[in-house]
Amino acid sequence: MQPSDCHNFHDFRRMARRKLPGPIFNYIDGAADDEVTYRRNTASFERCDLVPNVLRGVENVDLSVTVMGQKLALPVYCSPTALQRLFHHQGERAVAAASDKYATMFGVSSLGTVSLEEVRKLSSAPQIYQFYFHKDRSLNRAMMERAKTAGVEVMMLTVDSITGGNRERDKRTGFSIPFKLTLAGMLQFAMKPAWGLNYLTHEPFRLPQLDEHVDMGGGTMSISKYFSEMLDPSMNWDDVAQMVEQWSGQFCLKGIMSVADAKRAADIGCTGIVLSNHGGRQLDGSRTAFDQLAEIVDAVGDRIDVLMDGGVQRGTHVLKALSLGAKAVGLGRYYLFPLAAAGQAGVERALELMRIEIERDMRLMGCSSVQQLSRANLRFR
Ligand SMILES: Cc1cc2nc3c(=O)[nH]c(=O)nc-3n(C[C@H](O)[C@H](O)[C@H](O)COP(=O)(O)O)c2cc1C
Repeated sequence: MQPSDCHNFHDFRRMARRKLPGPIFNYIDGAADDEVTYRRNTASFERCDLVPNVLRGVENVDLSVTVMGQKLALPVYCSPTALQRLFHHQGERAVAAASDKYATMFGVSSLGTVSLEEVRKLSSAPQIYQFYFHKDRSLNRAMMERAKTAGVEVMMLTVDSITGGNRERDKRTGFSIPFKLTLAGMLQFAMKPAWGLNYLTHEPFRLPQLDEHVDMGGGTMSISKYFSEMLDPSMNWDDVAQMVEQWSGQFCLKGIMSVADAKRAADIGCTGIVLSNHGGRQLDGSRTAFDQLAEIVDAVGDRIDVLMDGGVQRGTHVLKALSLGAKAVGLGRYYLFPLAAAGQAGVERALELMRIEIERDMRLMGCSSVQQLSRANLRFR
């Protein structure tokens, strides 16, 4: 099966499932507790109908948006995600190159497997650095300096991961970094020898954003220990206000869900917020970003760029979020399954499919630019 045989998210998910050992597939596909929020993320778009206009002259359609000062050719971007080298040996390089080709923004995670400096050189698209807040304030400052020197455009602090979500699929397989596989997990790895061979014959797994702090070799510092020992659960608004000041550039909080927090983010000088429940991987039962969007855009949309992510699988999902006032929409699993299925070619194919869908759907809606989308185009059931 080739990337060109995949026509949507579900095709790529199937292809990724065939290639990846069960524990890795389930790390991507899984979410917290009963995965209720994960399922609702996509379902929430289906409770909203599009109301098209016709006869509007839609020969040329402009899909570009400007978000946090960055001009994107598409209203979607690749949200930062961890551990991409496990999914495909090209890892973050594939996502950076594909984002470059489609001239859209991409994120590099603190738990990324290629250095933010190397990825910066591979792509001229706007780059996000996704950051966690450490107890050691000098380490926070040093990491921001490093990102600034590398030429990162947008600093994104993830604020919904003050502690790890309860991912039961990972517990069943023993997925962790370093691996602590259960017998079931080991058997699932044994069933995918091609993945194992590929893994062993390509460059070793690394966490270059953190390798001074997380020792993968000796296993003295696992990722879960990194979260519990190095990150600061006492992080508060004053800490973040200081970071915003230090960064003095585009600064975004990822994982805002309440109106009060959105207002506070604007008050301390953030230039963007991402409404997100981390793809359902953190607080199960949390509301979906799409359901919260209108209220937050109404409260702060004139002061700060409001972005959203979670459950986006179709161009029509993107159109609905933009119509409610989102400035851009983040993709997670939408590009991760293609990455796992076919590396850079997979991510490019997924972005191309998304581009085609959005363009077609804009025409069908009677809109020739993203600015023309409005709430008049929507009805909730
Ligand atoms: C496998 C995986 C790893 C992720 N890693 C991170 C991460 O390191 N930092 C972060 O802020 N968000 C991370 N996320 C969350 C995404 O950035 C994004 O919020 C989420 O995937 C959106 O939901 P979707 O997958 O339904 O599109 C991760 C998501 C997945 C699926």
